[in-house]
Amino acid sequence: MAKGIFITFEGIEGSGKTTQGKLLFESLKKQGYDVVYTYEPGDTEAGKHIRELLLNSEIKITPLCELLLYFADRAQHIEEKIKPYLEVGFTVICDRFTDSTIVYQGYARGISIDLIQNLNRELFNDFMPDLTVLLDCPVEIGLGRNRKINKKDKFEIENFSFHEKVRNGYLELAKRSQERFFVLDATEPTEIVAEKIYKKVISIIESL
Ligand SMILES: Nc1ncnc2c1ncn2[C@@H]1O[C@H](COP(=O)(O)OP(=O)(O)O)[C@@H](O)[C@H]1O
Ligand SMILES: [Mg+2]
Repeated sequence: MAKGIFITFEGIEGSGKTTQGKLLFESLKKQGYDVVYTYEPGDTEAGKHIRELLLNSEIKITPLCELLLYFADRAQHIEEKIKPYLEVGFTVICDRFTDSTIVYQGYARGISIDLIQNLNRELFNDFMPDLTVLLDCPVEIGLGRNRKINKKDKFEIENFSFHEKVRNGYLELAKRSQERFFVLDATEPTEIVAEKIYKKVISIIESL
């Protein structure tokens, strides 16, 4: 059986990752494709506990502890969920993945990007998505959307310049890996963005 495609959604808080990931999941399912939706951090039994440590703003952890918890969550997630589905030919849609670690812990928190990439290589053999949808939008728009729904985890309470570093970090990664990234203007209406993503994904599936 052919291996499935691994698609990740990336972008700042409020850029529309969860909205678009779920819409893509629904559209593919409706067309009869085998597809699964998952997210980081926390979409395994062990991961739920790790997510609480990572996102609860009452629990203080150091940047290095944070980095290693993301890797711990991902180790469990890849083995328990992502790889088993890819191996039986499912399309796997994942809300955030390694690029998030590179931009949040690397570009924004200041941990060495080489260290993060070396860990990724040693631990996961550079396991990366086939396609990464980057939903790009100005920080004030993304944060403004989330403010409306009063979402306040450890990252949402970070300051403007932190999120600017995240946004710029993503754009830098996209420039470096143009073959993997599909960058979209996330300020466009939801349906327009969804249509572009769907067309892109179908063109990849049909080219296999
Ligand atoms: N293209 C869009 N235009 C306007 N609002 C949007 C758009 N995409 C998402 N939203 C809204 O913005 C908020 C954050 O979206 P969400 O998908 O949760 O973002 P993320 O998962 O990237 O944090 C939600 O209330 C969502 O309905
Ligand atoms: Mg989300």
